[in-house]
Amino acid sequence: MILTVGNVKGGVGKTTLAINITIAAADSGADVLLIDGDEQGTAMTFTELRQQKTGKTDYTVVSLKGVALRQQVRKLAPKYDMIVIDVGGRDTGSFRAALTVTDILLIPVLPRTFDVWALDQVASLIEEAREINDALQVYSVINSADPVGRDNEEAAKLLSEHQDITHISQTIVRRKAFSNSVAAGVGIFELQPRDRKAEKELTEVLHTFNVYRNDIK
Ligand SMILES: Nc1ncnc2c1ncn2[C@@H]1O[C@H](COP(=O)(O)OP(=O)(O)OP(=O)(O)O)[C@@H](O)[C@H]1O
Ligand SMILES: [Mg+2]
Repeated sequence: MILTVGNVKGGVGKTTLAINITIAAADSGADVLLIDGDEQGTAMTFTELRQQKTGKTDYTVVSLKGVALRQQVRKLAPKYDMIVIDVGGRDTGSFRAALTVTDILLIPVLPRTFDVWALDQVASLIEEAREINDALQVYSVINSADPVGRDNEEAAKLLSEHQDITHISQTIVRRKAFSNSVAAGVGIFELQPRDRKAEKELTEVLHTFNVYRNDIK
């Protein structure tokens, strides 16, 4: 399975989700390749930090952009159980390249009006990509949501209106555990003290993609 986490909006949690999906899938026994398709190189930097802080080398990471990303994904796909691609927060060559080769696109969206509107722009990129990649499955998920309030509901309603984009009903709430875990070089399931609510939310999202961790309690 090839899964891309992408959006034309920055700072929506793409890298956070890509890292957590990678670690959870690796933990379930899958051989996972994480592709950093963003010039900022955040996924690469995180992985270096992870190795320094935890000594873990449980997945492989490479940095690939644009055409090279597309070519290498095609070549590397048979060698891995899962490829996770993290792209930058703009309409980039790498995002477009990823859309032509990925099985799944997961779009994290902040529950704010402008962010929800930006999905229209992603929808037109998807339409274009489907001409080449007609099996492309697309999901949206609300991330960094307020624990309470009507904004989430309103955003969910608008997101559900997009045809051809499946809205995942499980919302990921804004929780300190997400930034704390990244800073510590670990995934949310490895963080101490544990944040059960964050774990539960992420677990639900992972199940959408049939990623089942071994030791979820
Ligand atoms: N659910 C969440 N709760 C709290 N903080 C979060 C959550 N998701 C992401 N963040 C934080 O929000 C910031 C942006 O997240 P992240 O870097 O994953 O977004 P991005 O979409 O990859 O950004 P960019 O477009 O710059 O690549 C980070 O500081 C991250 O720790
Ligand atoms: Mg990022």
